[in-house]
Amino acid sequence: MRFKDHVHVLTTMLIILIWCFSINWSKLQEAAKWLCNVNDDVNDFVTDCDNLGLFKPHFGCCPHKQCPMNYFPFHIHSGVADVVAAKICFNNTIIMGGIKNNAGQGLNIVLANGATGEVLRNKNFNLESRGPEELLVFLMTLKPGNIVLVASHIDPTPKLTDEIRDIFSALGSTLVKSLKPRDGWVFAGAYGINEASPFEKLIQNDVRSNAYEDWPEMGEIIGCFPRISETE
Ligand SMILES: *[C@@H]1O[C@H](CO)[C@@H](O)[C@H](O)[C@H]1NC(C)=O
Repeated sequence: MRFKDHVHVLTTMLIILIWCFSINWSKLQEAAKWLCNVNDDVNDFVTDCDNLGLFKPHFGCCPHKQCPMNYFPFHIHSGVADVVAAKICFNNTIIMGGIKNNAGQGLNIVLANGATGEVLRNKNFNLESRGPEELLVFLMTLKPGNIVLVASHIDPTPKLTDEIRDIFSALGSTLVKSLKPRDGWVFAGAYGINEASPFEKLIQNDVRSNAYEDWPEMGEIIGCFPRISETE
């Protein structure tokens, strides 16, 4: 009887212990993740999240995505209100975002070589304060096989001319023609593929249903972009 009681108490304690430990561990992970994201997105403090050492697989705090051979992992999210910067990760490396302090209002665009995965250029286009010419010139540098990653912030539409919308459509966007002021837009496409991209989201701005009153919620895509062979 006494022995049984002891076993019972010990088992209960063990269960509680394991339970506590697992809860704390997941909490710790959550906290670290949150810390990374906050540091990364809100330009408050700049911490290299790799150095936290807690998330080895989260290179530069991109949510790590394992992709098959001949695919490039990517993660894109739009900015939120005037608080969270847009972010573009390619091959599990942050190319644009809060931590880099190079993303901004308007459109954030990364170009990569679709065969090698080499990032060629990245730039923010604030179309509120500047004309569309610079963006047009940037898009004209595209070569067949280039991957294009886009994340909007605040408003992607000022001076988004029909000509520019046509170029994004040619890159595989099916939603760019429906973009309205203050919508959120994330997109990944490529030049010369000539088919609709599966990697695109449009978050409609609607004051009745917006997550943040004047602003829609964050748009996000995480995926594996197929490597483009040189001959295509
Ligand atoms: C992409 O990531 C892999 C794995 O981390 C790395 O080996 C490779 O060099 C990267 N490619 C480029 C072009 O950065």
